[in-house]
Amino acid sequence: MNRITYDELRNLWLEFFKSKGHTQIPSASVLPENDATVLFTTAGMQPLVPYLLGEKHPGGKRITNIQKCIRTNDIAEVGDHCHCTFFEMMGNWSLGDYFKKEMIAWSFEFLTQKLGFKKEQLAVTCFAGNANTPKDEEAAAAWREQGLTDAQIFFTEKDNWWGLADGGPCGPDSEMFIDSGKPACGPNCSPSCNCGKYTEVWNDVFMQYLKTKDGSLKPLAQKNVDTGMGLERTLAFLNGEGDVFMTELFDDCRKKLEEVSGKAYADNLVPFRKILDHLRTAVFILGDDRGIPPSNTDQGYVLRRLLRIAIRNLKKLEVNAFVLPQLAECVINKYKPYYPELERNRAFIVAELEKEEQLFNRTLNAGLKEMDKVLARVQGGVIDGQTAFHLYDTFGFPLEFTQEAAAEHNVKVDVDGFNACYEAHQALSRKGAEQKFKGGLADHSEKSAHYHTATHIMHAMLRQMFGDTVAQRGSNITPERMRFDFSFDRKMTPEEVKELENKVNDVIAQKIPVVCEEKTLAEAQAEGAIGLFTNKYDAEKVKVYTIGTVSKEVCGGPHAANTGDLGHFRILKEESSSAGVRRIKAVLE
Ligand code: ALA
Repeated sequence: MNRITYDELRNLWLEFFKSKGHTQIPSASVLPENDATVLFTTAGMQPLVPYLLGEKHPGGKRITNIQKCIRTNDIAEVGDHCHCTFFEMMGNWSLGDYFKKEMIAWSFEFLTQKLGFKKEQLAVTCFAGNANTPKDEEAAAAWREQGLTDAQIFFTEKDNWWGLADGGPCGPDSEMFIDSGKPACGPNCSPSCNCGKYTEVWNDVFMQYLKTKDGSLKPLAQKNVDTGMGLERTLAFLNGEGDVFMTELFDDCRKKLEEVSGKAYADNLVPFRKILDHLRTAVFILGDDRGIPPSNTDQGYVLRRLLRIAIRNLKKLEVNAFVLPQLAECVINKYKPYYPELERNRAFIVAELEKEEQLFNRTLNAGLKEMDKVLARVQGGVIDGQTAFHLYDTFGFPLEFTQEAAAEHNVKVDVDGFNACYEAHQALSRKGAEQKFKGGLADHSEKSAHYHTATHIMHAMLRQMFGDTVAQRGSNITPERMRFDFSFDRKMTPEEVKELENKVNDVIAQKIPVVCEEKTLAEAQAEGAIGLFTNKYDAEKVKVYTIGTVSKEVCGGPHAANTGDLGHFRILKEESSSAGVRRIKAVLE
């Protein structure tokens, strides 16, 4: 095995697949665009679903990249040597081009010739077959052709099928493991038994089926390959540390945390790892060009949970100063050569971390006292749902936060009970919001529709003036005015404000019809429609509003029928909304 740096590992991967005719594409956003089914990008294949289903990719049939991914389903596992909520997936794809034989030969070549593993160190698993799909003899034969013996090839059903939770393209897979050489844990020892003998490094998925809504499988028109290698784990493994938090990726941040806490990583593994992991994930959520601040819904709430758990672990290390921004700087500096968006959004990241740390600090101590009381009087080793909800509602303790604190006293939390209280609460506030909405729009819907259209035009003009990194961060419309927040890192000059106003008025003067069409998200995306707050949209069909060649946006509407209906557009104010985000208030007269 070769000792290797982060930079070298990235290059090794990308150059290898480029030498096999692949086109390198950039990492997609970690906040999926136009995909209502998931909160975060969880795998490199996710943004490529339309192409796996047959659409033509501009990069051709062979694609490679390194994708930023977030998986928070096993957030509770973070604290061991290898679980992370954020990770980088090195991936390559065949979009209806090569298949099993070629991919397995390349996997073998990369593992042995580029990473330096010996053939004898490898173990692989293949699909064992079930009632719907045959045993994957083809993959096993391809491994034998590379010189693997039958003792190195294992078959499973459940661990050798891969697809997204909500269906879509899927198929049998072949996973690759490194055998540590430790003795087998028993006669049935295998890569699936998790005894520590084997470490998974790579997964080759052979996507030739489509899982439909009713759960049945349909063959796809094209046979695809989708592979993913976990960068952090591979880096840790190659450098002999085994511990991802000891790799160069975390060096600066870990040392900074040792410095501010006066405590050693080696003596405080669990809190250190939770802070390092959660903070890194938070930096990538905030620092994305589609980044969002902490909130109480959807992605914003995941972010809030991660940060609050990190803050509690800082308390455990007796760090009372606000240190998240300092730690975040270490993460930004390490990754910015590869993800320049972190530098672009540095001010936003730091400001939001400061805000969240201060906000939570107001209720944290009182909440922790309450939590002590709850733990002292807990019955039967379980905190009931009502109490857990009270901790959430009054002190801002996310469920996972309460679970983590409770687990330290061997106490569980009634999750179903918590969810029931949470949903009842949500339903009540939804009712309130709907009523407000009805009241607000009933008399003035036409005017609000005009403002909605003006928002689309202005958004497009801002991107024309300042480039595609300008993106909507929020919008608020009343019948009297519009307010629009967008990512941009400086004040606009008075000349720019005037230019923007003129451009919008020019579009109005051209009297362009506003066309609404229903499309699938994939179609809308392929046509270059921009779309925001995407988790609000239906996965099947969305409305796409097109204003000539000026603007194409996925949006719920309603809109004006023609830009000529809007009247005169005037900007009242351009000001700061938060760090890295500007706000424009404007009227139609
Ligand atoms: N999409 C496959 C995975 O995530 C490669 O394992």
